[in-house]
Amino acid sequence: MSGFELNKILGAVLGTLLFTLSLNIVAGGLFAPHTPEKPGYEIAVEEAPSAGAAQAAIPPAEPIDVRLAKADLKKGEAAAKKCVACHTFEKGGPNKVGPNLYGVVEGPRAHAQGFSYSGAMKDAGGKWDYESLDKFLTNPRETIKGTSMAFVGIKRPDERADVIAFLNSLADSPKPLPKQ
Ligand code: HEC
Repeated sequence: MSGFELNKILGAVLGTLLFTLSLNIVAGGLFAPHTPEKPGYEIAVEEAPSAGAAQAAIPPAEPIDVRLAKADLKKGEAAAKKCVACHTFEKGGPNKVGPNLYGVVEGPRAHAQGFSYSGAMKDAGGKWDYESLDKFLTNPRETIKGTSMAFVGIKRPDERADVIAFLNSLADSPKPLPKQ
C-alpha cells in the first residue's frame, strides 16, 4: 500500500470522525434535551387525601333519627349487597360467616339462634337500636372491640341510615321509622 493511499484512507477516517462530531454538535443544538423542572415522571393522579383530610371530608352526621326520616329503603337494600357475603336477610335464612339479620333491629345483641358469636358480641349485652346500629356500622371493629365481623364499615352517614331502614324492614311488623 503506498503512502499516498494510506493518507487517503486516514483522511477519510478523520473526515468521517469530524463530520460525525459536527453532526453531533448541530443535533445537540437542534434537539436539546428538555429537562423537566421536576425530576422523574410526572403522572397526573389525584393525591390520596391524608387521614386527616379524609376525616374532614366526612360531614358531621346528623342524628340517626333525622337521617332515618329521609332514608331510602331501596337504596338501603342495594347498599346491603355489601353484607351478603356474610349475612342472609330473609326470615329463617341460614347463618353464614355472619348471623342471619332478620329481626335484628330492636333485637338483643347476638340475636340469631345457633350462631357462634364472638365473646365480645355476647358480652356487649343490650339491644340493637337505631343509634347503636349506626355506631356499629360506622366502624364495627372500633365499636365492639374483638368482634368477629371483619367489615370496614360504612362511612357515609346517609348510606348507613338507608341500610338501617332496610334492616328495620326485616321484621314481621316493622317499627315505623321516625318522621321528620
Ligand atoms: C366479612 C363478613 C361480614 C360482612 C361483610 C358483614 N358482616 Fe355483619 N357480622 C359478621 C359476623 C362474623 C358477625 C358476628 C360478630 C361477632 O360475633 O362478633 C356479624 C354481626 C353483625 C351484626 C350483629 C348481629 C347480632 O345478632 O347481634 C349486625 C347488625 C351486622 N353484622 C350487620 C351487618 C351489615 C348491615 C353489613 C353490611 C353493611 C355487615 N354486617 C357486613 C360478618 C360480616
